[in-house]
Amino acid sequence: MKPLIVILLISISLTSILCRDGVPFDYLMFTTIYPVAVCRADDDSVPESCEIPDRTPQWSIHGLWPNFENGSYPQNCHGTPKHFDENLIKSIEDRLIKIWPNLYPKKTIQSFWKHEYDKHGTCAQSEKLFESELAYFTEVMKVFDSIDVAGALKSIGPSDKNIGGIDLKNALAGVLEGKSFEFNCLRDKKTKQYLLGDIRICLNKDLTLRDCPGHHVDSHLNRVSRFERSTRRGQRGQPPLPSFQPCPAEFIYLPLESADAPSSSFFGNIWNAIKNIGH
Ligand SMILES: *[C@@H]1O[C@H](CO)[C@@H](O)[C@H](O)[C@H]1NC(C)=O
Repeated sequence: MKPLIVILLISISLTSILCRDGVPFDYLMFTTIYPVAVCRADDDSVPESCEIPDRTPQWSIHGLWPNFENGSYPQNCHGTPKHFDENLIKSIEDRLIKIWPNLYPKKTIQSFWKHEYDKHGTCAQSEKLFESELAYFTEVMKVFDSIDVAGALKSIGPSDKNIGGIDLKNALAGVLEGKSFEFNCLRDKKTKQYLLGDIRICLNKDLTLRDCPGHHVDSHLNRVSRFERSTRRGQRGQPPLPSFQPCPAEFIYLPLESADAPSSSFFGNIWNAIKNIGH
């Protein structure tokens, strides 16, 4: 029995040496989040304190995810490195801090990147474009820079008015070349409002735009059960974000001004910073 196990172990390790890292996948999903809504979402699954750092763009990065056509996706793949190593992305860290911020001060800045790289980045390494950790983060930044979601949405908000999916579709048609996309809301339990929380854009493996498959599999939504929610707080490895859910027919692209913040000058400063960055 024992030699058999040894042979098995050797062949398993040989396989992992000979095969490329990551797994073959069909397309990529780029998700951008609206930090104002994230911090407004009243949700038991995240720490109470949520802060939008200075210089955060109006829409910031959530991640870039390898996906299968059937709506499911690979996760926590064999990668090099297997786990996020901050030293490998030092050269681009200043920019990442700005456009890919962690909004929960109780977690480290790197916690969000680590979660995304370990879960999704490792799986993308089957493609040459994403073969290293540095390459993955560099490409995500490029995608962010090439799609100006905040600019495209200027025609519909942020505002107090209700909007619907068709308004989003019209506003994004130009920048997405008419390709279909997905979007999700966050719930503010206090006001019962549904807030536009993220936009998910689909890309071919060469990063050209494509239609999202239109599966309504919400496998990517970080919904959690009541039980998980009670044990989740402070747990490692969870994305530091509240639970996204499908938007109802009408929802709000929450204006900064309506944030019921204790100090309005704090939000005023963010607003100015965002306007100056313009992205
Ligand atoms: C989706 O497709 C992938 C790759 O072809 C496969 O590994 C996976 O089992 C499929 N998942 C479902 C739910 O069909």
